[in-house]
Amino acid sequence: MRSGALPIVAMLACATAIVSPGLVAAQNGIVHPEAWPKIAWPVRTDAAAERRIADLLARMTVEEKVGQVIQADIASVTPEDVKRYHLGSVLNGGNSGPYGDDLAPAPKWLELADAFYAASTDRSGGGVGIPLIWGTDAVHGHSNIVGATLFPHNVGLGAANDPDLIQRIGAATAAEIRVTGQEWTFAPTITVPQDARWGRTYEGYSSDPALVARYADRMVLGLQGPVNGKPMLKGPYVLASTKHFLADGGTFEGRDQGDAKITEAQLRDIHGAPYGPVIRAGVGTVMTSFSSWQGVKMAGNKGLVTDVLKGRMGFGGFVVTDWNAHGQVAGCTNASCPQALLAGVDMYMAPDSWKPLYNSLLAQAKSGVVPAARLDDAVARILRVKMRLGLFEAGKPSSRPLSGQYKLLGAPEHRAIAREAVGKSLVLLKNQGVLPLKPGASILVAGDGADDIARQSGGWTLTWQGTGLTNANFPGATSIWGGIDAAVKKAGGKAQLAPDGRFTTRPDAAIVVFGETPYAEFQGDLKTLQLRSDQVGPLATMKRLKAQGIPVVAVMLTGRPLFTGEELNTADAFVVAWLPGSEGAGVADRLFSSSAGFTGRLSMPWPMSAKADGPVLYPLSYGLTGRERAGAWTPVSEDSGVAAVDDGGVFFADGVPSAAWSLHVSDGAADQTRVTSVPLAALGGRVTVRAVDARVQEGGREFALRGGGVTEVSLSPAGSRDLTREANGDVMTVATIRFDTAPAADARIVADCGGGCKGGAALPKTLPVGKWLTVGVPLKCFGTMTDVTRPFVIRTTGRMTFSLARVALGTSADRVLPCS
Ligand code: BGC
Ligand code: BGC
Repeated sequence: MRSGALPIVAMLACATAIVSPGLVAAQNGIVHPEAWPKIAWPVRTDAAAERRIADLLARMTVEEKVGQVIQADIASVTPEDVKRYHLGSVLNGGNSGPYGDDLAPAPKWLELADAFYAASTDRSGGGVGIPLIWGTDAVHGHSNIVGATLFPHNVGLGAANDPDLIQRIGAATAAEIRVTGQEWTFAPTITVPQDARWGRTYEGYSSDPALVARYADRMVLGLQGPVNGKPMLKGPYVLASTKHFLADGGTFEGRDQGDAKITEAQLRDIHGAPYGPVIRAGVGTVMTSFSSWQGVKMAGNKGLVTDVLKGRMGFGGFVVTDWNAHGQVAGCTNASCPQALLAGVDMYMAPDSWKPLYNSLLAQAKSGVVPAARLDDAVARILRVKMRLGLFEAGKPSSRPLSGQYKLLGAPEHRAIAREAVGKSLVLLKNQGVLPLKPGASILVAGDGADDIARQSGGWTLTWQGTGLTNANFPGATSIWGGIDAAVKKAGGKAQLAPDGRFTTRPDAAIVVFGETPYAEFQGDLKTLQLRSDQVGPLATMKRLKAQGIPVVAVMLTGRPLFTGEELNTADAFVVAWLPGSEGAGVADRLFSSSAGFTGRLSMPWPMSAKADGPVLYPLSYGLTGRERAGAWTPVSEDSGVAAVDDGGVFFADGVPSAAWSLHVSDGAADQTRVTSVPLAALGGRVTVRAVDARVQEGGREFALRGGGVTEVSLSPAGSRDLTREANGDVMTVATIRFDTAPAADARIVADCGGGCKGGAALPKTLPVGKWLTVGVPLKCFGTMTDVTRPFVIRTTGRMTFSLARVALGTSADRVLPCS
C-alpha cells in the first residue's frame, strides 16, 4: 500500500490523540474507509459497452439476473442446468474434472468448455444468452491439467525475489489455460501469511507485505495482459482473481477460515498492502476470504467489500465469494444468503448449493429483500468484465486463439521458466564446504521425497490435496532425482537412488530429500511448527550416512519454514527447495554448479523452535550464496520447545490409535472395552481382537465379531472435534480395511456427534474379501459435524471378521461409499 498517508501504526505509536477515536477503539469490525489509500481504477469501459450493458439489463428477466450471479461446480451442474438457470459461471474445484474425471486428458476439458459455452448462449428456451465464464485454480501453472507446467508454489517464488520472473510465469500460465478453454483463474493468491501454522502458507509469496506488493501486480499483468482496452481473449490472456480478501493469512493461530483479531491498521498495512498495486494493474475479479476480521466473515463484510474495496480503493471489477463461504456469514446457510450480495459480493461460488441458492435469491429479489439496484449493479459488473474479456465476440472456447494447441501444455519454453524459477527459489541455510558437489563424482540420492513429483508439487496439483498420484501422472516432468541423475551422468559421474539410503556402491556424497507431504487448505493446518511424525524418517538416514563418514546435503521440500534443528546440525549442507513443481532439474542446476551459486533468500523467517511465536533462527531475506568460507558450525538448538506432534487427521495407524485417540469395542450401550493390548476378548466373548500383519508386522488389528447383538468398533479423540470445514471440503474418513469374511447382517460406518450426526454409509456385502483396500465415507454423509465424539464407528449386529490398519481423514480411497 505504501500510500502517502501517514501510517496508522506510526500514528498510534506516537500520537494517539490525533487519530479518530473510532479507529483506536475499533475491535468490532467497523472500518474507516477514509483511512485507506485512494486508488485509481485504470480500466475504462467505453460508452458503447455501457449502452450494451444497459440494454442487456433491460432485456434480462430477474431469473436471468439471479442466474448470472451464481457459479456452480462442474461436478454438480450440467450444461442443461446452465441453460435452464442462465448461470453466469462454472468452476472446477480441486477435485472436479470433466465428466467426473479429475485427471481427464486436456481435450476433454476443452470439449466440456464448449458444451457449457453452447448451453449458456443457447437462446432456444428464452433469455438473452450471456456466455458463461469458467474459473479454475491455476495457482502454480495450469495445475489441474495432466501434462501442464507446474511452477514452484508461491512461497518459493517469493524466495526468488524476481518480479520479472513472476510476470513471465503469469504469461506462461495464461497461455496454458487458454489451451483447454477456461477464461478465468482463481489466482494470484496475494495473501501475506503471518503464521506458518496456517495450511495455506505456501500459497503466499512472503510474510513481507512489501514483497507481496512487488509481485502481485506483475502476476496480474502476466495473466491478464496490459490494461489497453484490447479484449483479453484476443490475446493470450485470462482473467485473474486476487484472493482471499482480506487477511486470510492473518487469522488467529494461523487457523484456516479463522478470525483475524488484528487492528484496522494491521489489516490495511499488512494484508491490504498488495491491493493498491493489483487494482492499479486492473485485476478483473477479487475473491473474498473464508475468514473473518474481528468476528465478521468477509463474504458478508460490507465495510471492507463495498466501502473499502469498491468505494475507497475504486475496484471496478466483480467480487466472487469462496466455496460456500456465504454459508458461514452470520444468519446464512449455503442455501440462502442475501447478506452476501447486500454486503457487495457480486457472484456466489455455490459449488453444490447453487440450485437452492438460486431459488432463495430469486424469491429475495422478487420480494425486495435484495433491492433491484444492487442485483443490477452485480450483474453489470459481471457483464463489464465479460466485455473486457471480449467474451461476446470470442465464439466457442475451441475457436479462440491457443485453444487446442496441446503442445503448449508443458511446452519446453514454459518448462524452462519453471526450471529457472526452481533454481532461483532455493535457499541455502548451511554449507560446510560440501557445495557445490562435483557432477563427475559418485552421488547417492536418498530420502522419501527424492523421486516423487507429486510430493515436490504440493497441494492444488491435479487433485485438491495433491495426493493419490504417482510419477506416471506427470508426463514430461522431472523429479529431483531425475534432474540429479541427468546432471551427474552428463558429467561422467554416477548417481544411485536409494530412498532409505542403503547404497550398493559407497558414494562420495549423499543428497537426502525430505520434508512435508502434500496438503491443501485446513488439511495443512498445524498446531506447532514441526514436521509430522511420519515425515521425519530421513533424519535417521542422514545420521546413518554421517556415521559412515559420507558428506550429506539435505534438501527440504516444504510449504513453510519449520523447526529443523537436528537436520541442520546433522547435514553438511541444507537447502530449502520449497515446493518446486514439475521441473525438479532446477535443484541439480544449483547443487552442482560452481558458477551459479544460490540467490534465493528466505521469504519468511525460519524458526528456532516449533513454537509459532518463538525466536527466529534465520530472519527474512537470509540465505547463503554458497561461496562463503565456512567457519566451524555452531550447533543450533534441537529443542522443539513443544510437547506433542500433530495427529494430522490420522486417528489410527499401523494398528494403534494416534496420541490422544482411543479404540473401543462396545455394544452401543454401556458395555465398552478400550482396546489397548491384544489379544483381547470383549462383550462377554462376542468379539475377539488380535494383531495381524499389514504394512508393517502386527500393523493391523483383526476384529472377529460373533453377532448376537449390536457390536461397534470405534475410534474417538479425547474430547470432541469440530469437522465442519472438512465436511464442506469433500473430506472423507478413509479406512484401510480387510474383510476376512463378508458381513452376515447389515453393517454400516457411522459417526457420533454431540449435536446428533445422522446418516453414514452401508458396507456393501460385495466388497472383496481377503484383500486390503481403502474405503472412504464422505463426511457430508453425517450431517452436522460440529461436535464429533466418535468420527469412525463400524456397526453391525451379525457375524463378520475384518481387520483395520489405518483410519484417517483423507480425500482419496479405492472405494468411496455412497451416503445412506
Ligand atoms: C479455496 C479457493 C479456491 C476455491 C475453488 C476454495 O476452497 O479457498 O482458494 O479458489 O475453493 O476451488
Ligand atoms: C474442493 C476445493 C475447495 C474445497 C473447499 C474441495 O472439495 O475440491 O476446490 O477448495 O473443497 O474446502
